[in-house]
Amino acid sequence: MRAWNFSAGPAAIPEEVLQKAKQELVEYGSQQASIMEISHRSKAYEAVAFGARDNLRSLLNIPSDYEILFLQGGATLQFALLPLNFAHEKATEHIITGAWSKKAHAEASKLGQANILASSEDSNFTHLPGLKDLACSDDAAYLHYADNETIHGVAFNAVPEFSLPKFVDMSSIILGKEINVSDYDLIYAGAQKNIGPAGLTVVIARKSLLETCNEKLPNILNLQKHAENDSMLNTPPTFAWYLAGLVFEWLIKKGGIGTIEQQNNEKAAVLYEFIDNSDFYSNPVNKNCRSIMNVPFILGNPELDSVFLEESKQAGLLNLKGHRSVGGMRASLYNAIPLAAVHDLINFMESFEKKNA
Ligand SMILES: Cc1ncc(COP(=O)(O)O)c(C=O)c1O
Repeated sequence: MRAWNFSAGPAAIPEEVLQKAKQELVEYGSQQASIMEISHRSKAYEAVAFGARDNLRSLLNIPSDYEILFLQGGATLQFALLPLNFAHEKATEHIITGAWSKKAHAEASKLGQANILASSEDSNFTHLPGLKDLACSDDAAYLHYADNETIHGVAFNAVPEFSLPKFVDMSSIILGKEINVSDYDLIYAGAQKNIGPAGLTVVIARKSLLETCNEKLPNILNLQKHAENDSMLNTPPTFAWYLAGLVFEWLIKKGGIGTIEQQNNEKAAVLYEFIDNSDFYSNPVNKNCRSIMNVPFILGNPELDSVFLEESKQAGLLNLKGHRSVGGMRASLYNAIPLAAVHDLINFMESFEKKNA
């Protein structure tokens, strides 16, 4: 029996999507073969791939002057590709609010000058750094930040106002809330949270920006070359792309991102409220920047961590262990997690507290 899966990623995929994939796994439509076994250049596969791309465009209202790329290499490859393609020997500016934006900065530093515009590391990433009176270097190539920090559970509550092009890691928030794509120049996300299986990375970028990609790069590292080839410069991760398409169809059926965002807000609100009202559990993140997707929490007595994990697993609540760098617990509440799962989690936490506090 499937249990509630609170994993941070690879994460829960809607059961309806898995059932549909199961139904058509062995023979896809009239193909007499699985979707995994047919050419990515076939009409049947192109319909799947480009249909998925069109659905993503409509879900996020992506304007026609933005390209949508379906790539490989994870968000981590983008940490390197962004400076390789767009720095053009200029500095890059970084806001660091957690482990992932810190990694992106470290990778960019290997390739050129990467400035830290602001960081909240001194508070162990429990709040957003103040940005008000900061000035970016006007000569910098772009500003990079992570909209939602998966490990620390910290999220931006507004788009930072700087004139530089904005490159944003949305791996753990994409499709979880409505965004205005035009506020950004490039958005990227590993798929394995709200999009689908690992192995796929989505990049959404202004077409005019892509035209400036560093031409000296080998084609496989050049984002414009991927755009020119409809993300089929080489064989794409065909199954992951197909499955992402099923997730997009599921989201459209659910009512789109506005509806799912309301549900996500409600899920996060009930869990934070429970944690804040408890003397046993706590969340260290400032209330104005708490993630709606990743909720880290610690127990009053860390010696109980392993008992909590064992008993929660037995209660059908999986993968609640916090990241090793932070400790404690973390519940990831991506789109595929319904409110009922959060209520089950809270009921478990309540009875665990009664037994152990
Ligand atoms: C916000 C964020 N950025 C980047 C990454 C790295 O992604 P990948 O493993 O797809 O390279 C992750 C992975 O969890 C993440 O949560």
